[in-house]
Formats: sequence, structure tokens, C-alpha cells
Amino acid sequence: MSYTASPARYQGMKYRRLGKSGLKLPVVSLGTWQHFGNTDMFATNRAIVRRAFDLGVTHIDLANNYGTPAGSTEEVIGKILRDDLQSYRDELIITTKAGYDMWEGPYGEWGSKKYLVASLNASLKRLGMDYVDIFYTHRFDPETPLEETMGALDLIHRQGKALYVGISNYNAEQTAEALSILKKLGTPCVVHQPSYSMFNRWIEDGLQTILEKEGVGTCVFQPLQRGVLTDAFLKGLPPESADSLRSIGITEDRIAKANLLNVIAKERGQTLSQMALAWCLRGGRVTSVLAGAKIVEHLELNVAAVNNLEFEQGELDKIEAILKA
Ligand SMILES: NC(=O)c1ccc[n+]([C@@H]2O[C@H](COP(=O)([O-])OP(=O)(O)OC[C@H]3O[C@@H](n4cnc5c(N)ncnc54)[C@H](OP(=O)(O)O)[C@@H]3O)[C@@H](O)[C@H]2O)c1
Repeated sequence: MSYTASPARYQGMKYRRLGKSGLKLPVVSLGTWQHFGNTDMFATNRAIVRRAFDLGVTHIDLANNYGTPAGSTEEVIGKILRDDLQSYRDELIITTKAGYDMWEGPYGEWGSKKYLVASLNASLKRLGMDYVDIFYTHRFDPETPLEETMGALDLIHRQGKALYVGISNYNAEQTAEALSILKKLGTPCVVHQPSYSMFNRWIEDGLQTILEKEGVGTCVFQPLQRGVLTDAFLKGLPPESADSLRSIGITEDRIAKANLLNVIAKERGQTLSQMALAWCLRGGRVTSVLAGAKIVEHLELNVAAVNNLEFEQGELDKIEAILKA
């Protein structure tokens, strides 16, 4: 069935400026790491992308290696964008990344110019696009000179293949150096994409100060901490998958805290996942949270977090006490 976007799509979402750039992002963006790229899920994937756009989620986050096989998520999203959203391209922010293992041999991962340029060309082909809005280096490469990695971002930007550039998973020190090189090259970094959640607060320890000082936006991943900050595990770990869940940080201790946090979320009239997203966005330091969705209902629940982003100091204090216990 052909698709026409909802005329009400900009009524509910909130948008924040990405650092000191000209871009604004929706406070809730759509992540595609899991659940996209498998052809069995195509109908659901399409429904999620359409519903997201109808709810004002103008930003879709991708990477070269998403999907099984790697690259299939870009193919699926490319098809949905071509079939359904072609005429809305100028209303969309499409981002991709390169850094993790993508093809065999010494040029298929990390941060060389050879890899980054080839990877973005391949991403554009899979997406069926001439340019992406933001291109990220997905991780810091300890072996390639940072000048080369940043030089590749500068080249890609000047070629018009990415309108903006960003970095992901760089620590505070690596970030400061990367920003300084990009500034000298005349291609400013507009965004950092780090992990961040109530249970993972490393960015508060120096990185956020650098990003604010330099006017770089922050788009955070895993704000729901692999699902432990949702209602999925409140009743405990399923015995058949307990070990594998513990190995990704879904532990009994965190579940106990999630249950205490859930009491505060209920008092706020939110689900735990909505409060977890709102908490990341508190005070305006984070531009946007990246939330994945397996089903349309999860997307809708996540987007509805925007209806209550404000916290009273008493609520923040109670949350802090639970997290620090
Ligand atoms: N830059 C990077 O290195 C990097 C790394 C990882 C991710 N990312 C980006 O960040 C995005 C978000 O990452 P993520 O998906 O791993 O984030 P997450 O915050 O850890 O959330 C994922 C978990 O939350 C569950 N979930 C989501 N919405 C829910 C809801 N409303 N109710 C109940 N459960 C819900 C999912 O369950 P189901 O699976 O059952 O839906 C999944 O278990 C990715 O899609 C990707 O775009 C970037």
C-alpha cells in the first residue's frame, strides 16, 4: 500500500539543536542495530519506519555492519526509504558509520582512509542514496594516525557524500584530539555517539564537558541498557537465558534497582523505559536518545517519553540514591 505521511507528524515530537550546528534532531531517534535487515521482518520494519516518521522521528541511525549478513540493514532501510519516503528525503536525517569488521583482509575495519572511503561508497550503494546526512567513524583506531582518520572524514565531507561528520565510542582524550584536528581541517565534528544510560554514566566523567565546550551534540546509544531498563526483566531472569543475559550486563542487582526505579516511573505516570529515556535527556546535555524497536508498539512507547521529560529535584535525588546504592 502506498504511503502518505501524516500531516500531524510535527505536532508531538520535540527537537533539539545538535551542538552548535545548524541541524536539529528529534529527542527520540530510531536505532536499527537489531531487528532490521532480516527479510522475515520486512513488513514490520516498514511499519516501524513509517510510524516513526508519522510521529516526527526524522532521524534514522545505521551502520555499515548492521544486519545479518552485515550491510543488509542498509539495504532494507534503503528499500523502505526509496519505496515510501523518497519524496520526504529533505525531511530526514540518515546516518551511517564505519569502524567494525566489514570485509576480509587488512582494509575491512578500523579507521584507515582506505577503509572509511570504500565503506561509505558501499553504504551509499546499499542505501540507494547520493549522500548521507551524518557519517561517523564508529570506533577509535589505536594504530592508524588520528590525522588520517579525521582526514578521511574531511575528504568525505568535501566530496558531499556526508553533509556532516561525527565520531562514536571515542573516550574524552581521543575526542579532544579528534575535534582539534577536524577544526583545523575546516570540517567541524557535529556529533559524538557514546553509550549512556542510568547504569552506564562514563560520559559524565569528562567527555560531556569537552563536547559542551566545543559545541558538539550528543546522540546516545543503549539508553535502555540492553532492555534491563524496560519492563522485560522486572520479574527476573528467564532461567533458560540467564547466563547469556548476565554476560551482557542484565544482572540480578540491576533488575532489583530497575524495580525500585519502576516505582518512581509509575508515580510520574510513565513506563520504566520512558523514564530511562527522559532521564538521559534531563537538563538538555544530551541531544537525542537512540532507541531500537522490534515492534511498532515499542517505538510508540519510546516516542511517548517526550510527553514527560521534566524531573523534579526530589525525583532526581531518589533516582540517584537507587543508582548509587
Ligand atoms: N555507536 C555504537 O557503537 C552503537 C552500539 C549499539 C547501538 N547503537 C545504536 O543505538 C541504537 C539503540 O541501541 P539498542 O537497541 O541496543 O538500545 P537499548 O537501549 O539497549 O535497547 C535495546 C533493548 O531494549 C528493548 N526495548 C526497546 N524499546 C522497548 C520498549 N518500549 N519496551 C520494552 N523493551 C524495549 C529491546 O527489546 P527487543 O529486542 O525485544 O525489542 C532491547 O532488548 C541501535 O539500534 C543503534 O542504532 C550504536
